[in-house]
Amino acid sequence: MKNVQFFEFTDAGSLVGKLAGKIAELLTQGIVARGEASLAVSGGRTPVPLFMTLSDIELEWKKVKICLVDERWVDPEDEDSNERMVREYLLRGRAARAHFTGMKTSGAARAGEIRYAAALSAFSWPLNVVILGMGNDGHTASLFPGATALREAVSMTSGKRCLAIFPSHNISHERMTLTLPAILDSRHIIVHIQGDQKKKVYTQACQDGPAKEMPIRYILRQQQVPVSVYWAP
Ligand code: 6PG
Repeated sequence: MKNVQFFEFTDAGSLVGKLAGKIAELLTQGIVARGEASLAVSGGRTPVPLFMTLSDIELEWKKVKICLVDERWVDPEDEDSNERMVREYLLRGRAARAHFTGMKTSGAARAGEIRYAAALSAFSWPLNVVILGMGNDGHTASLFPGATALREAVSMTSGKRCLAIFPSHNISHERMTLTLPAILDSRHIIVHIQGDQKKKVYTQACQDGPAKEMPIRYILRQQQVPVSVYWAP
């Protein structure tokens, strides 16, 4: 995967300091070039220290638009909500001035697709930066192995930027996710993973095998967008 650079750190703190600086640099490049920048962020727990550090970095946050890579289809006040996590840890301090668009609407996720697709059209594409995580099953975003809509979500001809993903064997909530074409409509993809178990999963994902069994492989194997993988124990 010549399109992928792997960066290993001795501890999470040094990774976060370096990665926050890299993201700030990429966003500033976008602002200088086009007057605004766009950032798509994943949820989960790994990004929390990164978001806290990033939120304190001085840049023209009012020219940055932030969207979610995926969302659990729960109220924004729910403890499982990615929107809640982003508002709590990223949209604070200096970054409070950024423009955030959440995914969750009151209706079903399927109905939310149309609304979110419309909201995404207000972003400048390609996105400047997409931050992805990875689960121990090799999923990324809400592209889960075995998910009912995975085939549609990774189709490069669906014409969709976001899609409702319904529960399958290992998904705790109904989800909304950016599709693979939307994730790849970006200038830089960052995969942020932590811990020995995820290093093992990542190593396995780098081997041969069906991408649908470990959807992070769709990201690692594509040649359109440079991918930087940041890992710490
Ligand atoms: C989510 C994320 C998901 C996440 C991985 C890793 O909604 O959960 O978008 O794709 O990046 O599940 O999650 P952790 O960082 O919590 O391990």
